[in-house]
Amino acid sequence: LMSKEELEARVIEIKEKFGRRLFIPGHHYQKDEVIQFADATGDSLKLAQLSAENTEAEFIVFCGVHFMAETADILTNVNQKVFLPDMRAGCSMADMADIRQTERAWEKLQTTFADTILPLTYVNSTAAIKAFVGSKGGATVTSSNAETMVKWAFEQKERILFLPDQHLGRNTAADLGVGLDEMAVWNPIDEKLEYEGDFAKIKVILWKGHCSVHENFTVQNIIEIRNNYPSMKIIVHPECRREVVELADEAGSTSYIIKAIENAKPGSEWAIGTEMNLVNRLIKNHPEKHIISLNPHMCPCLTMNRIDLPHLVWSLDALEDNNGHNLIKVDETIARNAKLALERMLENL
Ligand code: 13P
Ligand code: SF4
Repeated sequence: LMSKEELEARVIEIKEKFGRRLFIPGHHYQKDEVIQFADATGDSLKLAQLSAENTEAEFIVFCGVHFMAETADILTNVNQKVFLPDMRAGCSMADMADIRQTERAWEKLQTTFADTILPLTYVNSTAAIKAFVGSKGGATVTSSNAETMVKWAFEQKERILFLPDQHLGRNTAADLGVGLDEMAVWNPIDEKLEYEGDFAKIKVILWKGHCSVHENFTVQNIIEIRNNYPSMKIIVHPECRREVVELADEAGSTSYIIKAIENAKPGSEWAIGTEMNLVNRLIKNHPEKHIISLNPHMCPCLTMNRIDLPHLVWSLDALEDNNGHNLIKVDETIARNAKLALERMLENL
């Protein structure tokens, strides 16, 4: 068993040896022990852009979750190999929409709404779902550009099917003026629309999925902050429920939250509703500001946390034999269609 110091020394050694042949992107929710070695950090949009731009790295060891590594594979060229240090680093939200369910939902929705729907999928989804959306003329979105992409979709069709995060979909559409009574929820288990009223009124169909981390921030948490710290600002991620986003002072993607805290005045007070590793890092990096988690129990993303220093070293060690561990290789046909969906987003930035 190697000590922490030995593991860190090994990462440094391999990074020096491979130089620019190796690229390590790290999502903001990754542990500090991993993020310290990232060549670039970002939210999911930035990491997708970086993958599309990086044409020189032969090996990309992705410190994030499975769908992000798939996206990196889709956006890089055939000579670049993407590895995920631990295959258990999935995403419970992405798992809430499977391709078979999506195809069946689409068929049923076509019967009701004919050709009036454009599908959009949050990048937090499998490559197969992105491919499905791409093949129907739709696009991916991230929490940084959801508004732009929902507007883009409404320029083409009367209705949107938004996968797989009902909260990001609802928050984005509501901010653009779509009424909550114009949004229905597609229940993939019952294969039914949850909606009372005339279906003709429906503009947005939200897939019934959510992030198990961000659903832990509640209205009760907000009430407690307002009572205990009346001058504290509350900032949350749009994966939180609508009621929470409405009561918060600000809502935005991971990079939006980071910028807001960086630009905040010394002495200002903040309660943040997002993943624990990021909140702890903001607390550490901004000692001159009073920052706490909106939920006092903190909210870790268990799958993001699968990537730790020992797994990173295990993954890097394996590059020397050139085959690596946990190669992420998306099927060619799926990759081609998924790329259409990703490119429609990247062109709209
Ligand atoms: P962003 O990186 O777009 O803020 O998304 C947050 C998230 O949950 C990633 O898994
Ligand atoms: Fe998935 Fe939520 Fe974890 Fe992001 S934070 S990887 S959406 S479970």
